Amino acid sequence: MEKIKVKICCGTSCFVMGASQIQILEIDPPADIKDKIEIEESRCMEHCHTNVSKYNRGPFVEVNGEVIEEANFEKVVNKIREILNKD
Ligand code: FES
Repeated sequence: MEKIKVKICCGTSCFVMGASQIQILEIDPPADIKDKIEIEESRCMEHCHTNVSKYNRGPFVEVNGEVIEEANFEKVVNKIREILNKD
């Protein structure tokens, strides 16, 4: 099975809004998703500039290309589990 691609934005804006908390996924992922994800970090995915919202809704994470706004550890893990449960 192909791994789920998780792209965490670690640009300044996302970082100050909490991306570091999401980076824990790289060090200590929950056991059930550990071997099923591939993590990549990005400097700035441009969502902080191009987002239609008036406010920056970072930190941003992409899971298999789907953008998660105001991401946090729990939201990202839930999205990964949702995808795993579909397959
Ligand atoms: S800093 Fe994260 S999208 Fe720009």
